[in-house]
Amino acid sequence: TAAPVKIAVTGAAGQIGYSLLFRIASGAVLGDTPVELRLLEITPALKALEGVVMELDDCAFRTLAGVEIGDDPKKVFEGANLAMLVGAMPRKAGMERGDLLSANGAIFTQQGRALNDVAADDIKVLVTGNPANTNALIAMTNAPDIPNERFNALTRLDHNRALSQLAAKVGRPVTAIQHMTIWGNHSATQYPDLFNTLVDGQSAAELVNDQEWLEQTFIPTVAKRGAAIIEARGLSSAASAANATIEHMRDWVGGTPEGDWVSMAVPSDGSYGVPEGLISSFPCTVTDGKYEIVQGLEINEFSRAKIDASVAELEDERKAVTELGLI
Ligand code: NAI
Repeated sequence: TAAPVKIAVTGAAGQIGYSLLFRIASGAVLGDTPVELRLLEITPALKALEGVVMELDDCAFRTLAGVEIGDDPKKVFEGANLAMLVGAMPRKAGMERGDLLSANGAIFTQQGRALNDVAADDIKVLVTGNPANTNALIAMTNAPDIPNERFNALTRLDHNRALSQLAAKVGRPVTAIQHMTIWGNHSATQYPDLFNTLVDGQSAAELVNDQEWLEQTFIPTVAKRGAAIIEARGLSSAASAANATIEHMRDWVGGTPEGDWVSMAVPSDGSYGVPEGLISSFPCTVTDGKYEIVQGLEINEFSRAKIDASVAELEDERKAVTELGLI
């Protein structure tokens, strides 16, 4: 049997962790390959995390080879092959954006350095904790020995939200849809692009043929879905965020389906005019564990303006964390 793959998860005692860990342990990322979970929390949450580990034990998952927990990233990330950075400092009432960026900066500089020093050579890092793109940029910059392309941020939840909204609009199952793309930042400025999306092989924008729905309903519904869930549930999206985190990592390791692509926030190589180094969402395919940004898509004037606005926000965030000395 194969040696277990070590999967590190931060914020493991949180809401997303409570969905994520059980699915990882039961094979949702790596199938039959045994996994060892390496779970990081802050000290006051370790007791709660012990309770979660008791529940993992009680599932007797065949693919779960072991669980380590702790509050020291240098120990928890030791030998990690995959890392899902979920734990982050949420924005509290009265917190300025600068405070939020610096609080998260402290977390992601430390975790980037620890990954740099102790993770396995093949480490892949996916950041879910918000502000995800910029947290990933901070971790990447603080891990100079790990290739930049091993740092991604999560926009798969936005991608999946866009699939479902479009499927409902056209009255087709999500399986009829291909080539969905989220561009830019995982924030309210993100741009879900229907001009390159296909429904049963036909242009989604042409099929819908309703620019007002696209601008007034579709884009805001996808971009503000997180707020709608908080409003309804009293808590932020967790199971769907865990699901997206799993799907992103599963596809990054195992590959994307033939003929389709997924949305991944990856360090820009300058494609589509996105400044190099920004972690921005692109259409990506994955083969043999390596992603590639899909090239040559047509970007119309409407899309160009939307992408530029979201990328401008990412540039602002990069400027702010540079000024704070975090990168
Ligand atoms: P939560 O507050 O329930 O859990 C977060 C956990 O992280 C807590 O247990 C906390 O103790 C832990 N934590 C904080 N600092 C840590 C550190 N330095 N090291 C290790 N653990 C630490 O939050 P929830 O709902 O699980 O969400 C987690 C993050 O995911 C939030 O930042 C949220 O905004 C983000 N999110 C991102 C989405 C995306 O699509 N990218 C979607 C939904 C949530």
